[in-house]
Amino acid sequence: KQRERQVLLDAYEFAARMYHFLLKNTEHGKQAMAYLKGRGFTDKLIDHFQIGYAPPQWDTLARQLDKREFSMPLMKQGGLLLSRDDGRYYDLFRDRIMFPIWDARGKVIAFGGRILGEGQPKYLNSSESSLFHKGRTLYNFHHVRPLLRKTRHLVLFEGYVDVIKAWDAGVSNGVASMGTSLTEENAFMMRKNADLITICYDGDDAGRNAAYKNMNLLEKAGCEVKVALIPDRMDPDEYIQAHGEERFLREIMNEAVPALKFKLIYLRRNHILIEETGRIKYIQEALKLLAVISSPMEREHYLKELAEEFNQSLDTLKQELNLIRQEQQ
Ligand code: GTP
Ligand code: MN
Ligand code: MN
Ligand code: MN
Ligand code: MN
Repeated sequence: KQRERQVLLDAYEFAARMYHFLLKNTEHGKQAMAYLKGRGFTDKLIDHFQIGYAPPQWDTLARQLDKREFSMPLMKQGGLLLSRDDGRYYDLFRDRIMFPIWDARGKVIAFGGRILGEGQPKYLNSSESSLFHKGRTLYNFHHVRPLLRKTRHLVLFEGYVDVIKAWDAGVSNGVASMGTSLTEENAFMMRKNADLITICYDGDDAGRNAAYKNMNLLEKAGCEVKVALIPDRMDPDEYIQAHGEERFLREIMNEAVPALKFKLIYLRRNHILIEETGRIKYIQEALKLLAVISSPMEREHYLKELAEEFNQSLDTLKQELNLIRQEQQ
């Protein structure tokens, strides 16, 4: 078992090196390189994140692994190869940009493979294996972990590309989970290594909904959470591409709002504030959120904001809040 594990790790390491080499040194790699360059990936980024390219042929990796006497059934079991009915093995990843995925110690344990341009699936990710458990994996965590001992601050993105582009902009503590639904294991691992998590998901509905869901999970795990909001339905990569790194840091990362603020913003979407009944309902729901704040000063701060915005007296809102607090006890 231990031996098989090591063989698989060797195979993943070999595959990552091979894909990286093929991207940089082959004719086929050129179009992939052009795609990456077109999206703003520099050589520095391609090297630091060991980005690669899987050529279109059916058996580029299979042949190399076979030549090096890796066991083909094990390679299939480990998620690198597939097999046909006639018993021949072929590559899972073909004609895709390859993002190696590492475990916490920096060993390659999986890949995310992106199609060049449009098409489905956009990302093909390795299936789970004895090495790779999605729920326990955070992309880029091995780079970030040493920094956390001092800062205890993690930034959570949706996609690999966002982690990479934000890293280039100076966000050296960015990670991404495998898919947008964070697991409890993810949350526990994040809590163990950080006190503050800034969620910086895509600015579309899917991203906002996932941010809301994952924020609650992280708070339950005991983290302080902030949310960095991106306008115009862009994602971090698109925002950086459109407005530059400096503005991304200044206007998005530095302006991340506290969890409660995000919950209020989120709540707004479900209420029609131009109608009296919608406004009252919103205020009541907002007060429920404020009621659980333990600091009186913080509670007062948000209460004032609410009172001013909706032209209510602070006293009335306080009375309402106290009623809710009594009910909640
Ligand atoms: P780019 O289009 O390359 O910028 O990717 P993105 O990171 O913006 O992708 P998107 O916001 O659509 O999705 C975020 C993350 O969800 C990706 O990094 C993947 O991990 C995952 N994902 C996206 N599309 C797929 C898919 O088709 N299949 C699977 N399994 N995962 C996907
Ligand atoms: Mn290199
Ligand atoms: Mn998205
Ligand atoms: Mn995205
Ligand atoms: Mn994107």
